Amino acid sequence: MITGRRVRLRALERSDLELWREWINDPEIAAMLDRVLPVSPPEHERFFERCVIGNEHAVWFGIEDAETRRYIGNVWLWNIDNRHRRAEVRTFIGERSAWGSGAGSEGLSLIAVYAFQQLGLHKVFAYVMARNPRGRRALMKAGYHEEARLVGEAFWDGQFQDVWRMARLSC
Ligand SMILES: CC(C)(COP(=O)(O)OP(=O)(O)OC[C@H]1O[C@@H](n2cnc3c(N)ncnc32)[C@H](O)[C@@H]1OP(=O)(O)O)[C@@H](O)C(=O)NCCC(=O)NCCS
Repeated sequence: MITGRRVRLRALERSDLELWREWINDPEIAAMLDRVLPVSPPEHERFFERCVIGNEHAVWFGIEDAETRRYIGNVWLWNIDNRHRRAEVRTFIGERSAWGSGAGSEGLSLIAVYAFQQLGLHKVFAYVMARNPRGRRALMKAGYHEEARLVGEAFWDGQFQDVWRMARLSC
């Protein structure tokens, strides 16, 4: 359990699956996570087994409101590379009423500190679409800086779009 001012990061549980699947099937959230197909319950269950429980190169947390203990989203380290001591960070706040509350940026900050202090990583980084100013702002508030603008990196809605790579270093 990692406790911040607004949120707590905790282990994901099987009982989170239903709400979690609802969120990633929300078209606006799916678009920001670069997902194109809706996820069915069996697919989601399989993903949980393989990519959450059975993946030693990832660390997943559920995000809870620190006060109400309500489950509001996820934040996770993906493709943890122990040789280069870096990992990608991904997140979403599924509970739309929590957008703009500081939950997203605090989750991004807490997981960076966890990566540096508990896993000994040196760098965490995230990809955020140029058309996602809220995501970019949340990353900046959490201490991530622009490393590169990847021009024409993503094909979305019939157009090639730019993606920012943002990173935070351990020191
Ligand atoms: C991105 C996301 C995680 C941010 O969570 P959040 O709880 O809203 O984040 P925060 O409240 O900590 O910060 C959001 C900031 O963006 C700002 N913001 C919101 N809309 C904005 C816009 N259109 N342009 C610029 N800034 C914007 C907010 O005002 C806030 O900044 P402030 O505190 O300085 O006012 C959440 O909105 C989300 O899950 N979105 C869908 C999935 C997604 O985009 N994932 C991230 C991929 S990197």
